[in-house]
Amino acid sequence: MKKTAVLYETMTGHSKKIATALSEALKAPLLRAGQKLPEAVEVLVIVSGIYGGKSKESLLDYVANLDPGSCCNVIFVTSSAGVKKTPLVLREAVSRLGFEVLGDHSLPGSFLFLRLFHPSQSDITQLIKEIKQEVDA
Ligand SMILES: Cc1cc2nc3c(=O)[nH]c(=O)nc-3n(C[C@H](O)[C@H](O)[C@H](O)COP(=O)(O)O)c2cc1C
Repeated sequence: MKKTAVLYETMTGHSKKIATALSEALKAPLLRAGQKLPEAVEVLVIVSGIYGGKSKESLLDYVANLDPGSCCNVIFVTSSAGVKKTPLVLREAVSRLGFEVLGDHSLPGSFLFLRLFHPSQSDITQLIKEIKQEVDA
C-alpha cells in the first residue's frame, strides 16, 4: 500500500471523527492542519468541513505553504450540510502545488437541524471502502 497520511481541519469535530477512522483503517498517520507532514508521503487524504461556503483558513494556509516536493497525490473528503463539492479555493491550492487529485468525496455533516446524525458509521464505512480502492489503484 502507498505511504498515506490523513490531514484534517475541523470546527465541530466531524472531520476529526472521519479522519481518525480513515487513519486507523489505512494505518496512516493522522495530522491536523499545522502539524508537520511526514516524509515521503505518496497519498494525502484531506478531510474538512465547509463554513459559509469556504474551507477553514487554517487549512488553506497549511496547504498553500506545503513544499511542492513534499508530496504527492491527494484525496479530498468534504463534510458539509449541503454543498457537495470541495471548495474551489482548496482545489486550486492543491493544484498550484502540482499534486494530482485521485478522488473527491462528500459526506453529510450535521448542522443545526440539517443532516442530523451524520456523518454516520455507515457513511464512514462506505468512505473507507472507496478510499482504500483509490489508494491501492
Ligand atoms: C459556522 C458554520 C458554517 C457552516 N456553513 C456551511 C455552508 O456554508 N455550507 C454547508 O454545506 N455546510 C455548512 N456548515 C456545515 C458544516 O460544513 C458541517 O457541519 C461539517 O460536517 C462540519 O465539519 P467539522 O465538524 O469538521 O467542522 C457550516 C457549519 C458551521 C459550524
